[in-house]
Amino acid sequence: MKPDPWHDYYAKRAREERYPARSVYKLEEIQKKFKVLKHNSRVLDLGCCPGSWLLFASETVGEKGLVVGVDMNPLILRLPPNARFVRDDVLAREESFMEVIGTSFQAVLSDMAPSTTGNKSVDAQRSLELSEAALAISDRVLRPGGSFVCKVLQGPDLKAFSDGLKQSFRRVAHFKPKSSRKASKEIYIVAMGKQRDTI
Ligand SMILES: C[S@@+](CC[C@H](N)C(=O)[O-])C[C@H]1O[C@@H](n2cnc3c(N)ncnc32)[C@H](O)[C@@H]1O
Repeated sequence: MKPDPWHDYYAKRAREERYPARSVYKLEEIQKKFKVLKHNSRVLDLGCCPGSWLLFASETVGEKGLVVGVDMNPLILRLPPNARFVRDDVLAREESFMEVIGTSFQAVLSDMAPSTTGNKSVDAQRSLELSEAALAISDRVLRPGGSFVCKVLQGPDLKAFSDGLKQSFRRVAHFKPKSSRKASKEIYIVAMGKQRDTI
C-alpha cells in the first residue's frame, strides 16, 4: 500500500506525545481556534475511546476540573484523577444515564462515529443520528454559555441540523481541522454560547 504522509505524521506525533489516537490534534486545533475548554470546568466527552480527547481535555481543564467520558466500548487507559468513564450506548441509553453522567457541563463534545458501510448517504444519516443524540444529551446537561462540539459527516441533512443549533447558541461555526484527512467527509460543528432559555 502507498504510504500516507498525513497518517504517518499525526500517528507518530501521537505516539511520541503519548496519546492513544491521532484524533487528539483535531481537538487541539478546535481548542486553539474556539477556546471551548475552560480551566476548572466540567466536560462531557461522548464517544471517548480510545481516550485522546479525554486526556487532552483533562489536561486543559486542570486538576479542579472534571471530564466524563462515555463510550459503548471499554476504555483501556489509566484515567487521570480528574476524569471518569461511563460505558453506555448513547442511542440506547436509559433515563438513569443522565443521573450517572451528572450535569452542569461547560462543554459537551462528541467525536462519535458510526461504523461505516461505504454507502455515503447511509453513513451520513447514521452520523447525524449520533449528533442528534449528542445534542439531546447536551440540551439537558450543558450550562448556559457553554459549548457543544460535534463531528458530523457531510450530507444533505447537515444544514438543517446546523441551522437548528443557531436557535439555541449564540454562534455556530463549521470547522475542518488540518489534522482531518482532506478526503474524509467529516467536519466539526462548534456551537458556542448556549442561550439561557433553551433548557
Ligand atoms: C473516532 S472514535 C473517538 C476518538 C476519541 N475522540 C479519541 O480521541 O480517542 C469514535 C468513538 O465513538 C464511539 N461510539 C460510536 N457510536 C456510539 C454510541 N452509540 N454510543 C457511545 N459511543 C459510540 C465508538 O465506540 C468510538 O470509540
